Amino acid sequence: MYRSKTCGELRLTHVNETVTLAGWVQRIRRMGGMTFVDLRDRYGITQLAFNQEVNAGLWEQANELGREFVVQVKGNVKERSSKNKNISTGDIEIIVSELNVLNPAETPPFTIEDDTDGGDDLRMKYRYLDLRRNVVRKNLELRHQMAFETRSYLNEHGFLEIETPVLISSTPEGARDFVVPSRINHGQFYALPQSPQTFKQLLMVSGFDRYFQIVKCFRDEDLRADRQPEFTQIDCEMSFVSQEDVLQMFEGLTKHLFKKIKGLNIRYDFPRMLYADAMKYYGSDKPDTRFEMKFVELKDLTEGKGFVVFDGTEYAGAICAAGCASYTRKQLDELTDFVKRPQIGAKGLVYVRCEENGSFKSSVDKFYTQDDLKKWAERCHAKPGDLLLILCGETVKTQKQLSELRLEMGTRLGMRGKDVYSCLWVIDFPLLEKDEELGRFFAGHHPFTAPKIEDIPLLETMPEKVCANAYDMVINGVEVGGGSIRIHDSKLQHKIFQLLGFTEEKAQARFGFLMNAFKYGAPPHGGLAFGLDRFVSLFAGLDSIRDCIAFPKNNAGRDVMIDAPSVIDQEQLDELGLIIRPIDD
Ligand code: AMO
Repeated sequence: MYRSKTCGELRLTHVNETVTLAGWVQRIRRMGGMTFVDLRDRYGITQLAFNQEVNAGLWEQANELGREFVVQVKGNVKERSSKNKNISTGDIEIIVSELNVLNPAETPPFTIEDDTDGGDDLRMKYRYLDLRRNVVRKNLELRHQMAFETRSYLNEHGFLEIETPVLISSTPEGARDFVVPSRINHGQFYALPQSPQTFKQLLMVSGFDRYFQIVKCFRDEDLRADRQPEFTQIDCEMSFVSQEDVLQMFEGLTKHLFKKIKGLNIRYDFPRMLYADAMKYYGSDKPDTRFEMKFVELKDLTEGKGFVVFDGTEYAGAICAAGCASYTRKQLDELTDFVKRPQIGAKGLVYVRCEENGSFKSSVDKFYTQDDLKKWAERCHAKPGDLLLILCGETVKTQKQLSELRLEMGTRLGMRGKDVYSCLWVIDFPLLEKDEELGRFFAGHHPFTAPKIEDIPLLETMPEKVCANAYDMVINGVEVGGGSIRIHDSKLQHKIFQLLGFTEEKAQARFGFLMNAFKYGAPPHGGLAFGLDRFVSLFAGLDSIRDCIAFPKNNAGRDVMIDAPSVIDQEQLDELGLIIRPIDD
């Protein structure tokens, strides 16, 4: 037996027991004739004590240990004279009688502590050492618990976990595919699944009724804090369901996770917000509803007073920041710089201070009377002491800019606490999105999403007005999941493919298998997929999903530890019939 106890297990009740522990040397403190070693494993830290007077040989051996040595010790559990309240084993220590170095270690490239001196790149290169740190390990433990509780809930509700293939052909999620050349089928490529979408629909045709899978998905898209090229979905599908059934089932899963993992009983029904309202009031299809600060439209009040910026603008919208009238010139300049940053792209920012004495001070005083500004304030329900921030321009663009400003103000005002959760469904997404430049439609969600029955006639006349039976779950401004009710009628599916600009042949080539399947009795069905990485990072309060993935990619899509992607041998290229040519500038 390498060990009889773990490093997180021993308490006062174990005093006088002889135990064997094994783990890594976290820290060594030499204090005259006493040497203390913190021994660490996944479960915790236990203090080992070596006394020169009692056993000089052992004491010397302990002094030769280094950080991260792997050791085994045998000894007696004793109550500590100076207890450490910060660790669970802090009441005891081990008076070591035997020390066995199982493996010495080189000095690690960064300190393996919660507060490490290692920069991002270094930690990623030595990720296996980074994973020894409490903070990172805890995220993976949380991830395990969430996956486990998810399986438990879905199993209870009759879902079967079924694996689907990874070497497939293109899926319909709309990002770029990662492709894999086939050696046996010369000149042909597999695509890695962006999601198991088509397979889960086929499983419904097969009669499995309730499917789920915790599954890797692959998308070659620009990376952000909440996006990885390979990420994990909790992918689900159900037969004989309406949208309401799906929302209930997965709201239930979310509440189950909050209860089991965070100990929070969410008693309210998740609010349902129309996509159109989300855009109108928050400028985002994933509004952070931990705080209100909804947009208020002011265009009819701001135009016609000679201020050219507001006159003739398509949209003028305000947010009201409570208690911020005291913002200094410098703070207001900071906000102006914020909205003018290239990523946001506003031209400027207009403010109105609602003074405590009932008067108004504004950056556009020259053009508007006190009475004008009062009307703006009234519409925004502003009180004395509040600050109005106003942006104008083209509607969609300005709403996006105002959304960024709203989030910034929410952060500044401390209204986006990580331990507060605000969940909602955003529903009734548009079925199609028009790319004005290309003059064609794209699927809002994916091409199998069902339009609302009442909107089907609009497909002929005003396709852009058609709403889909599609929904996203949003928590704290993060899209944690999304899905839809699917089209199960091959005629309607044909119509949608037509609208999306697929020729008959192209639709047949890409999705013929699914359309054929629908000819053999497809049940009405629908589902959704959660982003597990996003869900875990939300529960862990992380800023990036990378921190809850054992071996993530960096922002350039690289795994710097194993150095992937990398070039392959000429021999392998020849075998695959591939020639690499330089990319033209
Ligand atoms: P969708 O594309 O909305 O839907 O993806 C579902 C959820 O997956 C997460 N997600 C990501 N997480 C990390 N990195 C990424 N690159 C990434 N892309 C998406 C999000 C998102 O809500 N097949 C449909 C689901 C369905 O219709 O049932 C689908 O994949 O949390």
